[in-house]
Amino acid sequence: MSTDPKNDKRLRKVTTRSLRTMKEQGEPISALTAYDYLMAQLLDRAGIDLILVGDSAGMVVQGLDTTVTVTLEHMLYHCQVVSRGVERALVVGDMPFMSYQINADEALRNAGRLIKESGVEAVKVEGGEKICDTVRRIVDVGIPVMGHLGLTPQSIHKFGTYQVRGTEPAEAAAMRRDAKALEDAGAFAIVIEKIPAALAAEISKSVSVPIIGIGAGAGCDGQILVSQDMLGLYTRFHPRFVRRYAELGREMLEAFEHYRRDVKGREFPGPDESY
Ligand code: KIV
Repeated sequence: MSTDPKNDKRLRKVTTRSLRTMKEQGEPISALTAYDYLMAQLLDRAGIDLILVGDSAGMVVQGLDTTVTVTLEHMLYHCQVVSRGVERALVVGDMPFMSYQINADEALRNAGRLIKESGVEAVKVEGGEKICDTVRRIVDVGIPVMGHLGLTPQSIHKFGTYQVRGTEPAEAAAMRRDAKALEDAGAFAIVIEKIPAALAAEISKSVSVPIIGIGAGAGCDGQILVSQDMLGLYTRFHPRFVRRYAELGREMLEAFEHYRRDVKGREFPGPDESY
């Protein structure tokens, strides 16, 4: 195995271009979310290709019921601390609800703030054809944009449910058009959330940009999960598309209880932990 860092794929900086190459070469893209410095550092050290600073922070960090009330200031903070912990992965910052829907000028200003003030390298927006003029405008100034289709959580009040999207032919057809429109508008990748696997596979084949799935089956070009879900830290919901790779919530609880017992029983600190 090569020891030259230039030849070590785990060390080479990931860019929007290298993600496209991964798709072309059939190499699945690994993506996870992060909201803080420590988590970002660990994901980067693990060789995760893309780190999304998701507005899911509203739920898994702030304890809110939806992502709808997350603000640009919240996202700036999370994006700043995540960017500080990453050397190799591509870092994408979510644009929160109503930071890009009003008009393209405002969207451009807010995308620019995320890039300039936090150090993320790209932004993500939810929606298809209807926001493509805005996507084009942001891409035109040199800011890479990732799209998001399917179950778009910022529209939860319109959907009224977190059920699978795209099961009706009309909605599936609209999603195919949306993916194509985002590709034409210059999006570098598209997240597709909670749609039938066959539809996601078909869309992945039909566009040249990487499709990163969450609850969208194995036919996508890459996969993303919310880190707190796959680590067993956020346990309020357990959608079937989340594979639990650890039960850190349980381990942390045990550690906190152990510490409390030690303090109450005067077992901590011991002589070696004192000056
Ligand atoms: O905000 C988020 O974490 C996301 C992922 C679910 C893709 O958009």
